[in-house]
Amino acid sequence: MANKRTVKKADKITERAAAKRTERMEAQKPERIGAKKPEKIETINSEKITAKKAEEDWIFQKRMERHHDELRWLYMELYGNDSMFAELCDNLRRFYLERKEELRALDLERETNQGWYKKNDMLGMMFYIDNFAGNMKGVESRLDYIEKCNVNYIHLMPFLDTPEGRSDGGYAVSDFRRVQEKLGTMADLENLTAACHKKGINVCMDFVMNHTSEDHEWAKKARQGDGEYMSRYFFFDNAYMPSLYEKTVPQVFPTTAPGNFTWLPDAGHFVMTTFYPYQWDLNYKNPRVFNEMMYNFLYLANRGIDIIRIDAVPYIWKELNTQCRNLPQVHTIVRMMRIISEIVCPSVLLLGEVVMEPEKVVPYFGTVEKPECHMLYNVTTMATTWHTVATRNVKLLKKQLDIVDALPKDYVFLNYLRCHDDIGWGLDYASLLEEGMGERSHKQYLNDYFQGYAGDSNSRGELYNADPVTGDARFCGTTASMCGVEKAGFEQNDQAMEKAIRLDVMLHAYMFMQSGIPVLYSGDEIGQVNDYTYKENPNKAADSRYIHRGAMNWSLAGNISDPVTVEGKIFHFLDQLEKIRKREKVFVSNADTWTIETWDPSVLCIGRYFEGEKIIGLFNFSEFDKTAWINETDGDYVDLISGKERKPIGVDIPAYGFYYLKKK
Ligand code: GLC
Repeated sequence: MANKRTVKKADKITERAAAKRTERMEAQKPERIGAKKPEKIETINSEKITAKKAEEDWIFQKRMERHHDELRWLYMELYGNDSMFAELCDNLRRFYLERKEELRALDLERETNQGWYKKNDMLGMMFYIDNFAGNMKGVESRLDYIEKCNVNYIHLMPFLDTPEGRSDGGYAVSDFRRVQEKLGTMADLENLTAACHKKGINVCMDFVMNHTSEDHEWAKKARQGDGEYMSRYFFFDNAYMPSLYEKTVPQVFPTTAPGNFTWLPDAGHFVMTTFYPYQWDLNYKNPRVFNEMMYNFLYLANRGIDIIRIDAVPYIWKELNTQCRNLPQVHTIVRMMRIISEIVCPSVLLLGEVVMEPEKVVPYFGTVEKPECHMLYNVTTMATTWHTVATRNVKLLKKQLDIVDALPKDYVFLNYLRCHDDIGWGLDYASLLEEGMGERSHKQYLNDYFQGYAGDSNSRGELYNADPVTGDARFCGTTASMCGVEKAGFEQNDQAMEKAIRLDVMLHAYMFMQSGIPVLYSGDEIGQVNDYTYKENPNKAADSRYIHRGAMNWSLAGNISDPVTVEGKIFHFLDQLEKIRKREKVFVSNADTWTIETWDPSVLCIGRYFEGEKIIGLFNFSEFDKTAWINETDGDYVDLISGKERKPIGVDIPAYGFYYLKKK
């Protein structure tokens, strides 16, 4: 047992050291340094350089000054470690100074125009680099196509080093500073982001911060028993602690990767693996993990990334006897990330991946004074949209949109019809129960419907992580396949194809009507259908999400100007809608938005108003012609698609049709 007196003495020494460190930190605080804006000296070169450097320093110090106290407070709350905090601050400065001149200029521009991403000109597209264009250079050569799609924000799906066959689509990173060899190099990435910036295209990438691959150097050292590295993960030498966690922690992949721990026979330890067994959860209780991951984040931001998608963020803090999701410390970390980015790279946006119910999502925006993420996925709206397709009943969707519309207008949502992941049926089941729909039976119906088995469905796709115990399953398929394009094409049924295209286009028109930033999955602009070839690849066969992650079909994309083809039709209609959205200011993110009762269960009506402009959107989710019993008598309206006058009073809408009616 340790001698009490020695412990006390040691405590005293640490206390004194801590006090000294605090003193040093205080002395280093920018206001003490005297953050004075330097005069511009325009004489000889060396003086110019000194003046420039002083100005750079001044900018950094100003930002630090603004945020230092809060950052320190939060850091101490989690870690109580002064020297690690000092190290973090030194590195913030280092990453700031390393930032390229063009990026720093962008930082300044966006700092003075903080709402730059809230306008109506943003349209995103997400893709896997290899599927889209082979490699990074290939993407660069396809930027003209991206522009043709009216897209000015590309999400490059995970491209960092990851072990083949144990990569979870790139979400198991083995080196945060290396690009997968087949896709290119860090230099290629910098060239690509620079080329994008020249064209006004923003680049988004994933920051997979909850876990590393088991092949990451930290994991390798931990596996060999190095205690310092083991403490960066969750290691247990027997099943007791894991069994306690398992009591309260739900499963992410109940079928493809059951359980939250993996036994490592060679290391004689269990390691926490919330996702796949080869994705080891990082332990953010260790300040070394936080600091190093922040350096990785800034290193990547400095490659010219505009939007950092914080992958699986609700999971990053673990506590026994909790679900290990959305814990308060997660928000402390996200807030610190926001502060860090505002100090080092304020042009960068944080996009939080919180695939959960609305009351869990919204807190990730933080508050107006202390914001966290700039953007979040509108995930419940997305899932509710497909529920509406399957039921032809807009009641729940209307309610969901009302919830979103009632949120502060500063919040920016990323709107989408689908992404690279499955569609989980996270709906408001309490409301559905009032309509007589039970959760389990309704999920069953939705999954049957989208597989094409029930409800007069034309959809095609596959289940994901069907859990025989809970009866739960999620769904995978491309937008076009879920709308009936695949089935109609297979059956060579022109009439069915027209119907499928109408549904597909109507869904996009409705998605564009929502506030925020719409993001397309690459291939959706030409109605690409499911890709079943993943089943032939043993590394992918067990994961049905690959069904909707197929390679871009460039020969079909060659048809975009041919109006008789499926691709030409979908591309043309979307092009028209995208241009309207960018042209009409009523689509800005902070416009007033509301829903209107149409007295027809299948017709959704959305109103938008901004600075004297008003638009009424009508969307028929049924395969039958309908009438929207609305009565907007405040003036004359024009249909933005046909250019014809049409009053928003008792409007007849064809099957799967829609209108954008603008007040004159
Ligand atoms: C996110 C990704 C998903 C991945 C998971 C684990 O949810 O979107 O594709 O499987 O994180 O990293």
